[in-house]
Amino acid sequence: MKSVFVSAPAKVNLALRVGARRPDGYHDLDTVFEAVDIFDDLQADLAPDLRLEISGLGENLPVDESNLVIKAAHLLQKATNTQQGAHIKVHKRIPVAGGMAGGSADAAAALLALNTLWDLELPDSRLAELAGELGSDVPFALLGGIARGTSRGEQLVSIKPGTLHGWVFLTSATGLSTPEVFHCFDEMFPAAGDPFATTQLCQALTGSDLSAIAQEMVNDLAAPAAALRADIADICAELAEFPGKTILSGSGPTIAIFCAAEAAESLAQEMQEKFPSRTAIAAIGPVTGAHIRRVEK
Ligand code: C5P
Repeated sequence: MKSVFVSAPAKVNLALRVGARRPDGYHDLDTVFEAVDIFDDLQADLAPDLRLEISGLGENLPVDESNLVIKAAHLLQKATNTQQGAHIKVHKRIPVAGGMAGGSADAAAALLALNTLWDLELPDSRLAELAGELGSDVPFALLGGIARGTSRGEQLVSIKPGTLHGWVFLTSATGLSTPEVFHCFDEMFPAAGDPFATTQLCQALTGSDLSAIAQEMVNDLAAPAAALRADIADICAELAEFPGKTILSGSGPTIAIFCAAEAAESLAQEMQEKFPSRTAIAAIGPVTGAHIRRVEK
């Protein structure tokens, strides 16, 4: 029985500039993504029907049509007119509804795995198009590295990084709904126009001066997310006295602390003691996007 094993990374947004709500309900963004070394693993086995199992952090997630992995499989079947099936197992390490694009990582992993499992031979450019239909963050989960995203976040241009970065993620056991955070943004900022450009951050990222990068980091969803979740504001207030740069990850509630790559592990230990209600995870970035680790015939 043929099996394909894929891993896909979490992301953090170094900048997330948000514009007005568009007629299609999405917001124009100017964002900078970085893939970090927290990976979900996906195994796809050739089978007559389509089935999904989830272990790790996502044990209670739905495994029906509402799951992005199943949506990815159906989209690929439709786009290529194949009737093949797969039994898919996902092991989740990326926090669920945490603002780190865990669902998008799984969708990207499914596209990549099934393209190989079903011998579809779709080029990367076609996979990226299908990824954009599944969700705004899915194309970046395929691409990885560091990239500027515009439109809904799905139009990507890679940035060559000047150095590795360290991160400490303060993850929460309770997630936050992305649509709700965007809705709250609309209420707080009814006059939002075009999103602010991220040009200076993109420039800083090609160098190795971490403080120059930190200075340009910004997230327009921080205020609406903090309005919905008191713990975000509390933790960020405590961290304001701390010399490292703190930013909300995506639409939250994960809080990300930016540091030197070699400092991440010890900082995570320190932060775990300081914030026992959260789980502190050390990571480095940028790392590769969704990739095949093994194929068994
Ligand atoms: O694209 P995706 O399905 O991941 O987006 C989830 C939700 O986040 C959307 O339904 C929308 O409410 C919000 N969103 C947005 N503007 C974007 C991306 C996402 O309003 N650019």
